[in-house]
Amino acid sequence: MITLLPPGVEVEEAYGDVPGAPLQPGEADAVARSPAARRREFATVRHCARTALKRLGIPPAPIPRGAAGAPQWPSGVVGSMTHCSGYRAAVVARAGAFRSLGIDAEVHQPLPDGGLRLISSLAERHHLAELVARNAQVHWDTLLFAVKESVYKAWYPLGGVMLDFVDAHVELDPDSETFTARLSPPETAKGDVPVFFEGRWRVADGMVQAASAVPNGAAHRADS
Ligand SMILES: CC(C)(COP(=O)(O)OP(=O)(O)OC[C@H]1O[C@@H](n2cnc3c(N)ncnc32)[C@H](O)[C@@H]1OP(=O)(O)O)[C@@H](O)C(=O)NCCC(=O)NCCS
Repeated sequence: MITLLPPGVEVEEAYGDVPGAPLQPGEADAVARSPAARRREFATVRHCARTALKRLGIPPAPIPRGAAGAPQWPSGVVGSMTHCSGYRAAVVARAGAFRSLGIDAEVHQPLPDGGLRLISSLAERHHLAELVARNAQVHWDTLLFAVKESVYKAWYPLGGVMLDFVDAHVELDPDSETFTARLSPPETAKGDVPVFFEGRWRVADGMVQAASAVPNGAAHRADS
């Protein structure tokens, strides 16, 4: 994940759970009735986040789950977290430098049958067919999913409402391993919200990873 984020973003990753990773006040309720594996990943990814925050000079602070599951970062901080089998990651940055961050990691395997149709437009499926013809080793469907999840995680703290998968039109560049996403958010979204996202992706270590960082000054709905 480290190579996917610009300077100014702190990244911390774990390739397994950290035994006994402590929770901070206000965090435990969200997973009180969850299976032990979920409680471990929840605590480990917050351990990663607090490690990354420390590099920003921010002391350990609670990161509870807020509306729609979005993490509530300490004042003056933006960030994002992800976990998949055998991997947890958190990224944080000063809010003065970035408006929002979004990351996602998925196991590098095909989406379940019918999954691609649920998350893509016809145009995106044509785009993916071209990418498959070029490199059939990559599970482009899962990469598209990870990109959309990363964009959603960056977008939600700004827009404040759920985005449908077809509300984002994504293009993947296989040469530069970058992506663009143009959003058509619902009218209920807050006004001053970017609709154009850019980011980087990679396929490595049995995973697909995607990250999007929204710098201050990114285009808004009003001026795009
Ligand atoms: C919420 C969601 C994005 C999580 O993604 P996932 O691949 O299932 O799971 P990950 O492990 O990668 O990420 C989970 C983390 O995402 C973060 N997250 C959850 N909801 C979030 C939100 N609304 N906004 C930002 N971050 C969110 C949390 O930190 C969560 O970890 P935690 O519960 O331990 O704090 C996904 O389950 C979802 O609801 N997607 C539907 C909406 C969507 O993606 N639309 C695409 C539009 S382009």
